[in-house]
Amino acid sequence: MTTRTQPQGFRPADAGNDEPETNLTAHTSFGAVVARRYSRRDVLQGGLSAALATLFAAPVLGAFARPAEASGAAMGGLPAAKLGFEAIPIYRGDAVSIARGYTARPFLVAGEPIIGDRVGEASANSVAAFEDCSGTDMEKRIGSHHDGMHFFPSSEAPNHRGVMCLNHEYIDPYKLFPRGAWVAEGPRPGEQIRKGIAAHGVSVVAIERGAEDGNWRIVKSHLNRRITPETPVVFSGPARGSALLRTKYSPDGTRTRGTLNNCANGHTPWNTYLTCEENWASYFAAGKETSRRELRRYAVCEHSDRYGWDQPAIRPGGRYDEPTASETNPDPYRRFACGEDLGADATEDYRNEPNCQGWVVEIDPFDPDSTPVKRTALGRFAHEGCTAAPAREGEPLVFYSGDDAMNQYMFKFVTRERYAATTAGGHMLDSGTLYAARFDADGHGAWLALDLADPVFESAVACAIKDPRSVWPGGHYDDFAGFSDQADVLVNARLAADVAGATPMDRPEWCAIHPQTGEVYLSLTNNENRGAADPSAEEPRPVPPDAANPRLASEFGHIIRWREQDGRHDATRFSWEIFVLCGPPDDSRTLAGEPLDADNMHASPDGLRIDSRGLLWIQTDMGDTQQAKEHARFGNNQLLAADPDSGEIRRFLQGCRGQEITGITATPDERTLFINLQHPGEGSEATPILASTYPDGPRSRGRGRSCMLVINKDDGGVIGT
Ligand code: FEO
Ligand code: CA
Ligand code: CA
Repeated sequence: MTTRTQPQGFRPADAGNDEPETNLTAHTSFGAVVARRYSRRDVLQGGLSAALATLFAAPVLGAFARPAEASGAAMGGLPAAKLGFEAIPIYRGDAVSIARGYTARPFLVAGEPIIGDRVGEASANSVAAFEDCSGTDMEKRIGSHHDGMHFFPSSEAPNHRGVMCLNHEYIDPYKLFPRGAWVAEGPRPGEQIRKGIAAHGVSVVAIERGAEDGNWRIVKSHLNRRITPETPVVFSGPARGSALLRTKYSPDGTRTRGTLNNCANGHTPWNTYLTCEENWASYFAAGKETSRRELRRYAVCEHSDRYGWDQPAIRPGGRYDEPTASETNPDPYRRFACGEDLGADATEDYRNEPNCQGWVVEIDPFDPDSTPVKRTALGRFAHEGCTAAPAREGEPLVFYSGDDAMNQYMFKFVTRERYAATTAGGHMLDSGTLYAARFDADGHGAWLALDLADPVFESAVACAIKDPRSVWPGGHYDDFAGFSDQADVLVNARLAADVAGATPMDRPEWCAIHPQTGEVYLSLTNNENRGAADPSAEEPRPVPPDAANPRLASEFGHIIRWREQDGRHDATRFSWEIFVLCGPPDDSRTLAGEPLDADNMHASPDGLRIDSRGLLWIQTDMGDTQQAKEHARFGNNQLLAADPDSGEIRRFLQGCRGQEITGITATPDERTLFINLQHPGEGSEATPILASTYPDGPRSRGRGRSCMLVINKDDGGVIGT
């Protein structure tokens, strides 16, 4: 990524950090304690871990009392969640290394046809076919950069047949074209933009396991479908029809086009898919319009650092080169230039187009004609995923969602309606309460309602209006005048969480919920903006370490877990503890207080899943800069498994070079596990050791393609045993 232009009023980020700091609050509680008890010199020289161990371990662990039923023996008759495989050593090669007794096969590779006559045709599933296909053709193929996914089993053969919903987060644009054909600067050919858009979004594809060879394959089904950043989508919930969602495309603010940068996911008890919009802000170019809070608090910048979708070339005759434009699809690419060609009001331009992204989108995989729905009650931020707590009759449904950017928040949504299997449906996601989490230093925490009808929030808003600098001491929101309505709160969910006093976190990524104990696990991947990286600098990092995010400029990340009060996911209080501080042996700590070792050292935890036996699966996403620096120590990105009771962790798999492991789902019998290898070879232009030809090998023309891995145990057993 190129360096991003800073929005007005933002402090500059360090060189190499392409994510502008947007949390400018004064949430300093635990950092102040650390600063008082330990000199900055001690902290910077690595004494922080030891300091924190004495400072918070006892109260935190004390607060997190595990009830007796958490032990493996009492898990509803299921076998205990023991790790039954041997850990693999660190792997740095360009294939897949997996625990002995298991096999991983690539599947659903970027560019593979899922619609039309060429489904299953080997010659249509190659690097050359991916490079050469048109934008229109790309809309019938698996997209790129696979991320979150969910397997919806069929009722007649749940372990052998079902529908896979799969996110395509972003693209390596040059890989969509033969070498040298991609236009990286200036006006972009419309066809180039069209293909890039088609490689984003979501794939819905029916799959089955062949009886003859046991391999999974695509089924030619009427359910197979692509949803892209250009697919018509409707809004529902409190922000539907809001003035903040009005655009030239939808003057009444009820519709928009597409879903962007779909990262992790969730699913509902009524078998729909939830896809989450994460790093959407950087697709927009706001020009001189970056000062509005709904843009600046999300780092929508003057220029886009993505793929130039805002800059289509101009055709002879003066029209923009937008091959998909029509009366019902006006300005399909120019809408990303949201600060240009402004009209008299928002219904004549795209000033609000960035407000149409940052949501959780519900997709019905079993109705190919259904329109995806953006559920605005769940708030607008950089949604990593949306994990549902187990549904219980007569209780509200609860969904957890991290806001993955440095120093942003952890959220949950509690439905107003109580769950009844016979009447449950998408309407339940349209009314309820959005909360942001505050993690207190004593190992307890609180969920803070972001709801104008909540008296505590109402009072916090009143205080912030009266004294904005009590929330934003740098004066960046001195004009704060509250929220006009609940739609305004939801569109500006980050600002609402600032006001409520939530805890800025080290990039909240995935959640997973233990099926027996109800514990919620959250990965916090890393955060170079945590604390005063350079205390002599004029403007040190604004958010210091705290109990829940204990490291300065956290390089390696950690996993935190909590238990809701009285075991109810709709509770407003919880107890928490750190499950693992990830990192090398000299800078890590397991639940048992031991350092990580050769069998389990890892960094930058991201994807999480707890299987039905209660085993926690951990996926890592060390970015290319970190991999370039740490490849010798950590090797390629990893999949590990942890026993939540003992805290023991073992390395299960490492993928090819330059990829990130992300997305995880399984058949109901836990005998087929699906994970994704996103962007094999990413970062290899700067770091040749990250170059990958996976999964095509010598036929790859030197290019790796994102793909799924299907994992089975060679004896047909349960994965992880
Ligand atoms: Fe798309 Fe936060 O990972
Ligand atoms: Ca992720
Ligand atoms: Ca990540």
